[in-house]
Amino acid sequence: MIKIKPLQSGFVADIEGVDVSHLTEDEFEQIYAAWLRYGVLRIREQRIDETQLQSFSARFGPLEEAPFGRLSEADKAKIKNRYVTQLSNILVDGKPIGGLGNAEANWHSDMTYVETPPPASVLLGVEIPPSGGDTYFADQCAAYDALPQALRERVDHIAIKHDAAHNSVGELRRGYKPFDNPIDAPGAIHPAVLTHEETGRKALYLGRREWAFVAGQTPSASEELLDELWQYAALPDYTWRQQWQPFDLIIWDNRRVLHRRDDFDANARRLMKRCQVLAR
Ligand code: OGA
Ligand code: MN
Repeated sequence: MIKIKPLQSGFVADIEGVDVSHLTEDEFEQIYAAWLRYGVLRIREQRIDETQLQSFSARFGPLEEAPFGRLSEADKAKIKNRYVTQLSNILVDGKPIGGLGNAEANWHSDMTYVETPPPASVLLGVEIPPSGGDTYFADQCAAYDALPQALRERVDHIAIKHDAAHNSVGELRRGYKPFDNPIDAPGAIHPAVLTHEETGRKALYLGRREWAFVAGQTPSASEELLDELWQYAALPDYTWRQQWQPFDLIIWDNRRVLHRRDDFDANARRLMKRCQVLAR
């Protein structure tokens, strides 16, 4: 029997009593509904491989292809699980086997710098360091509700440009030129308040703080407004901390939550596998 245990009021739930590699249609629909309701789900003890992670994730919607840099189509076709990305600090032959290294990743929502960002991210913890590397989630429906009324009315009418040039540990992505004013950042523009397509709920939609820009403002007015908004983005009442155990599986809704992660010891090993899911 599938059990859904909320961890905070209306935000984050543990799912128990399931094996994601053998889900009935009815069990999956319960998980999908819980994901919409709670924004973040954790399912512990899912000892699945990449193929199983990929098949489970694909039940949420079509998958985003992992970034394979300059591989040719022919080489890509040889990769078995081309929708699985690794995040890791582990080096093999001196080369990282995944992204983000051991650095702290600031608050962000995944890929909001594209026009239609993936709604769901599915992240599996495989190797977990003894300390550090915790991942935090902040409920942006609650953040929107927490805004003082005058600020909420302002934010209802603005749009934010989401920088595509830097990743969540602040590195310039391959193929992008550096710049020093956020007004010059490349990336998609989205309303600062997102009305969820499936739940109808409103959430603050900030993306990342660094290099963000409020469309149509002067650089200084943009910075001031963003600083003000970010004060409400991750207040303790609606922030949750995930301390990983191996084979924890977390599914979050990028339209509803921000996430960040702590840094960890460069000599420890951390390996995560992730799928990004596009809209159904
Ligand atoms: C991600 C991400 C944080 C982590 O998968 O998008 O930001 O804990 N991961 O590795
Ligand atoms: Mn992320």
